[in-house]
Amino acid sequence: MSERVLHSHISPSAHFTAYVWYRRGLSDAAFISTFGRFSHSVLRPVMWASRRFFDLDLENMLLLRHLQIDACLHCAIENHGVRQVVEIACGLSPRGRRFTQRYPQLRYMEADLPDMAERKRQLLARNGWLGDRHQVTAVDVFAQHGVNSLASAFAQLDRDEPVLVITEGLVNYFPRKQIELFWTRLAGELSAFSAASYITDLYPELQAHPRYQQIRWGVDLVGKLTRGEYYLHYADAEAIGSGFKACGFAAVEVIDPSLRATDLGLPIAKGPGLVRVVHAHM
Ligand SMILES: C[S@@+](CC[C@H](N)C(=O)[O-])C[C@H]1O[C@@H](n2cnc3c(N)ncnc32)[C@H](O)[C@@H]1O
Repeated sequence: MSERVLHSHISPSAHFTAYVWYRRGLSDAAFISTFGRFSHSVLRPVMWASRRFFDLDLENMLLLRHLQIDACLHCAIENHGVRQVVEIACGLSPRGRRFTQRYPQLRYMEADLPDMAERKRQLLARNGWLGDRHQVTAVDVFAQHGVNSLASAFAQLDRDEPVLVITEGLVNYFPRKQIELFWTRLAGELSAFSAASYITDLYPELQAHPRYQQIRWGVDLVGKLTRGEYYLHYADAEAIGSGFKACGFAAVEVIDPSLRATDLGLPIAKGPGLVRVVHAHM
């Protein structure tokens, strides 16, 4: 199976999340698609049932991760002088648009597999949003060389300026060993910059969680819906820290956004949080 075929099953979920960002006022109508609206309406009964019977609110979970990543990015720009951002696996996320509007000094490079990158490029161009400060490039996080490799994307950046890399909704679609290869290659690229860090969401394997059985069921469902697998990585914050350090990062912050729900403007979640936001520094 080619790499392209291997990972393309994940791309439809980008349409679903894009619709969630739009519905919650985080995005412009330009970012939504018919498929996003359709998949959201198909999944609505499932989301209702998991809220009603298991206290698991999928949309709230997605918003927690999205808004926590935003909060870390605001802080990196305002307090740590970050002027270059690379958002890999950007899908139809509106973050690049929101942040380039807010921070005129920022250069924002969005990246995704070639088909999605082309779609995003056309979307931004159509709306007059594409330019020197907001670009899109094709990247396959597993490409070891060539035009779609990380090396090729990072060659377009200024190594003397701090850089921040984001992935959202990507890492749990791959087995740990495979995603660690990406993180190791990413850390190698980031080591060439004056200052660099990486932010990602991550769903750990929280076996002690009171809803563990339902979570496993939900994870299997996501796997089926995306015609692939969905993997939970690491048992706790300590294991996450060790895992990222083994990939080449020097310091790792693991945030449970559910503990910051009020600051993020979201309702307090029932029960322990499921998603973590990891901010790994070189
Ligand atoms: C669940 S979507 C998330 C999109 C967006 N980050 C969001 O949160 O709305 C996953 C994205 O990962 C992209 N993707 C899948 N495999 C990839 C790979 N090997 N390299 C880069 N991007 C990939 C898909 O094309 C898709 O846009």
